[in-house]
Amino acid sequence: MKIKKAVFPVAGYGTRLLPATKAIPKEMLTLIDKPLIQYAVEEAIDSGIEQIIFITGRTKKALEDHFDINFELNKILWESGRTKLYEDMKRISEMVDVIYVRQKEQLGLGHAIACAKDIIRDEPFAVILPDDIILSKEPVMAQLIRQYERVNGSVISLMPIEDYAAHKYGIVEVDSRLDDRLYKLSNMVEKPKDTPPSNLAIIGRYILTPDILPVLEELRPARGGEIQLTDALRALAKAGSVYGYEFEGQRFDCGDRVGLLEATINFAANNDELRPHLKEIIGKLQV
Ligand code: G1P
Repeated sequence: MKIKKAVFPVAGYGTRLLPATKAIPKEMLTLIDKPLIQYAVEEAIDSGIEQIIFITGRTKKALEDHFDINFELNKILWESGRTKLYEDMKRISEMVDVIYVRQKEQLGLGHAIACAKDIIRDEPFAVILPDDIILSKEPVMAQLIRQYERVNGSVISLMPIEDYAAHKYGIVEVDSRLDDRLYKLSNMVEKPKDTPPSNLAIIGRYILTPDILPVLEELRPARGGEIQLTDALRALAKAGSVYGYEFEGQRFDCGDRVGLLEATINFAANNDELRPHLKEIIGKLQV
């Protein structure tokens, strides 16, 4: 079944980036010249996703405005002859079909995804956590969809990490290795305190089969008082249908200031217009 829908949990407060995120959603922070959310939405579109479901909260109006039409701005740009900018702005409001669902309480990632159940119904779907921005030749979601078409089960993106960083991620336990980058998973633990079951961390791109939805609804809050997606995935993994794919690309944690800085430098280094400027800036840097 084709993956047409992607759920974007975007209700989180972004406390790691305060005060920048006091009045604006963290997903609206910029990486070079676009808000983070636009990178994530473009990745979804470039992977063939047709409909986006934002799970939002009270402070996220700017996200809705970003993907809406701004008539006044369009008029000004058009009348002053700035047609390229006019077309760019028009493209953003027309880029994809978006549905907004309000997550009234912050009960965790698992809860956020369960909020989309009436829209997802019985289709496999994608999940994108827009804090995780990934620089890659092929969009990571497209890489996952290809694997999903092979295995016909849930596929989650994986990245090798050092042991000392394991407490920041969901960490998987591997049942078997199917090829260079594809694994069948037997278990996963959210932010392990003790020895992690492997060095493979879950990153914010998932293809989930709809049988995860009733599991999520049954779950009680776990670690940190939250309903964890990782706990629902564990139940499906025990039933034997969860796979992990070590994606090709470089991931940045843009929910954190060091990650955002690292992403900014790497995206600039990958941009033909900005690369010479970046070299000059670094050349003059006094540290
Ligand atoms: C979430 C998931 C975690 C995953 C991480 C990737 O955690 O719960 O399993 O490893 O995203 O970014 P969060 O960073 O939202 O606490």
